[in-house]
Order: sequence, then structure tokens, then C-alpha cells
Amino acid sequence: MAMMKSNGNVTGKMEDSEFHEFFVDELKDIYWAEQHLYKALPKLQKAATSKELAAAFEKHTGETQTHINTLEQVFSLLGEKAEAKKCEAMAGLLAEGDSIVGDTEKGSMTRDAGLILAAQKVEHYEIATYGTLIAFAQIMGHSDVANLLQQTLDVEKATDVALTKLAGSFVNEEAAAE
Ligand SMILES: [Fe+2]
Ligand SMILES: [Fe+2]
Repeated sequence: MAMMKSNGNVTGKMEDSEFHEFFVDELKDIYWAEQHLYKALPKLQKAATSKELAAAFEKHTGETQTHINTLEQVFSLLGEKAEAKKCEAMAGLLAEGDSIVGDTEKGSMTRDAGLILAAQKVEHYEIATYGTLIAFAQIMGHSDVANLLQQTLDVEKATDVALTKLAGSFVNEEAAAE
């Protein structure tokens, strides 16, 4: 994560400003995160026990592809090259998902409970990131960019709600009984 100098001017000439660079850097970070999530979701889908959770992961794989495309649109609107920069936070969250698969039994509801936990951590990370990026875009006067990122944020929030419903409806109850 790039640092902003304390005298960073966020209202001056945006294109060359340090804040613009910082914003683009953070876009590269979430671009990496979405790309790697896109690769990880089919693995989570395969590991899931219930078909409901597998279906939720499948749905979000398609949505994540859209998020990648949306970020490419954002880069293009800003006149920047779409570039990915390793996001340590997403790398850590995905590693946690892998370890949950390794630590739980195939076909168990405990595995699904763990996968839901891992997936919700990912969604909350994305929600925090997009929320802040939207605020930055608005400060910079890029309302077109803010609107695009808002569409992604809405999908991340809906995914989080869907996962919460899944967790509440059956997974945790059955896992507790195992
Ligand atoms: Fe996403
Ligand atoms: Fe997501």
C-alpha cells in the first residue's frame, strides 16, 4: 500500500497528483485481488459439501469476472493501463480458505461452515476496499468511476447477505451436530 504524504493535495490538479497515483495503486491492488479470487472460487466450489454453497460460489465466480471487467473499464476511464499488483491481504485470505479445506473433512458440514467464514472475510475485505475507493473517486470528481465501483460494491454486499443466509439456514446448525 502506497503512503500519502501529509501534505498530499487532494483537491488540486488531479491527474498528476500524488493522490491520483495512490488511487490508481489501490485499484491495481484490488485488480490483483479480484483476479486471484476468480481463480480460487472454482476450487472452493469443488470443496463445498452442500450444493447450495457450491452454487453460491459458482454464481460469484461469474460476478467476479464482471468485477475484473469493471476495473478494466475504470483504468481505461482514468487513462491508465490495467495492471495488477499483489494484494497481500487477499493472498492471506485465500491461504486461509485453503487451510480450511485442508483442516476439514470432505463432505462435512463443518467444511461448509469454514468455507462460509473464509468467503465472508473475503467479501468484507472487498466491501471495505470498494467503499473507500468510491469515496476517493468522488473526492477526485470521477463520478463515472464512482458509479462503476458502486455497482461492484452492491454485488459484494449482496453476496455477503447470501452467505449469511446460507450460514443461518442450515450449515452451522448441522455442523454443530457433527
Ligand atoms: Fe469482487
Ligand atoms: Fe466478492
